Amino acid sequence: MTLVDHGQTRTRPRTLLVTGGAGFIGANFVYYWCETYPGDRVVVLDALTYAGNRQTLAPLEEKANLRFVQGDICDRAVVSALLEEEAIDTVAHFAAESHVDRSILGPDAFVRTNVNGTFTLVEAFRQYWNACNQPTHFRFHHVSTDEVYGSLGADDPAFSETTPYAPNSPYSASKAGSDHLVRAYYHTYGLPTLITNCSNNYGPYHFPEKLIPLMCINILMGKPLPVYGDGQNIRDWLYVGDHCSALDAVIHRGTPGETYNIGGNNEVKNIDLVHMLCALMDELAPELPVRPSNKLITFVKDRAGHDRRYAINATKITSELGWQPAQTIESGLRHTVSWFLTNCEWWQPLLSDEYQAYYAQVYTNA
Ligand code: NAD
Ligand code: TYD
Repeated sequence: MTLVDHGQTRTRPRTLLVTGGAGFIGANFVYYWCETYPGDRVVVLDALTYAGNRQTLAPLEEKANLRFVQGDICDRAVVSALLEEEAIDTVAHFAAESHVDRSILGPDAFVRTNVNGTFTLVEAFRQYWNACNQPTHFRFHHVSTDEVYGSLGADDPAFSETTPYAPNSPYSASKAGSDHLVRAYYHTYGLPTLITNCSNNYGPYHFPEKLIPLMCINILMGKPLPVYGDGQNIRDWLYVGDHCSALDAVIHRGTPGETYNIGGNNEVKNIDLVHMLCALMDELAPELPVRPSNKLITFVKDRAGHDRRYAINATKITSELGWQPAQTIESGLRHTVSWFLTNCEWWQPLLSDEYQAYYAQVYTNA
């Protein structure tokens, strides 16, 4: 394979605004960036919704060149002031409502943050970029999902950057709307935007509502492992650290106006993934209320509008930017399970009353 180097190598330190930096992927990205580029300044803007956790960044706040600001991306005054005050040159936009099941229960917040919030942010950035005389090294990186492409049949080719959008959930529809806005800002105004559409992530700091942490935590508690429908839905799993290295490649070497798909070439059926997690927990957890853990697997009512299969064709980012994932599904899951076993103090406080109420709503009568 030929690796094309577009020559946009790192020529300067950067000052980043990371929205949603107290969430799962955003926080992993902040750790990645501060470790990889210790000379850069990182400003986190996060509203600290149920999914945001400032504690995640606490070890970094003490030493890195990091500033945390609690604020809403829908608040134009806050966003504009931060861009100017910190002389931001790079926005890495993660802030979003991100859970499909919550979007089914209450879509309003998804449209507000994902569509209106992205609009507020990109428009504020455009005004600021204009005021700075449109520097060519500025970047607005919009972090999105493969879910905007809809659902694949068993034999369909994987999603590529030219696959038509066909979002099926309020979550994916709101992300699709935000993608279109960001794309339009490049075409209309020449704003140096980048968009990435990534497959399902997993790893440290993953909020307990998502499949992998939920299963690990329920196994530890001896609770049923709720598998939706027939368990044959397929997701393409990527270790979060590999997502971060892909974002680094795109921010530094991606071509403005372009979209890059990011995926791990790890298509796994949900039921197989749950069995893998059970086996790892049986191996790595010293004490479990129920062994083997797979006795806890329970098939429950399917998610409304549940997409059957996602798969990513990552040829573009691999061939044009030379990115490759470092983890296999086996190594990534092993690391993740170990992390959840040794970091109970991180996830236990997240099983709050709000979380229990959410859990009851989704899983009771499921
Ligand atoms: P997350 O839900 O764990 O974190 C979202 C963060 O955004 C939280 O810290 C939250 O407090 C913050 N936030 C929410 N609304 C905000 C607002 N109005 N203003 C400021 N901050 C706000 O989400 P995640 O899984 O880390 O996903 C991050 C991004 O990556 C999202 O845009 C998501 O669509 C995208 N993505 C996620 C996955 C995945 O598998 N998790 C895959 C591909 C793309
Ligand atoms: P999830 O982690 O919610 O990610 P997404 O919906 O963005 O793909 O779910 C991953 C898959 O696991 C999805 O097919 C739904 C399924 N799932 C279950 O079977 N049970 C659960 O309790 C959860 C949360 C998800």
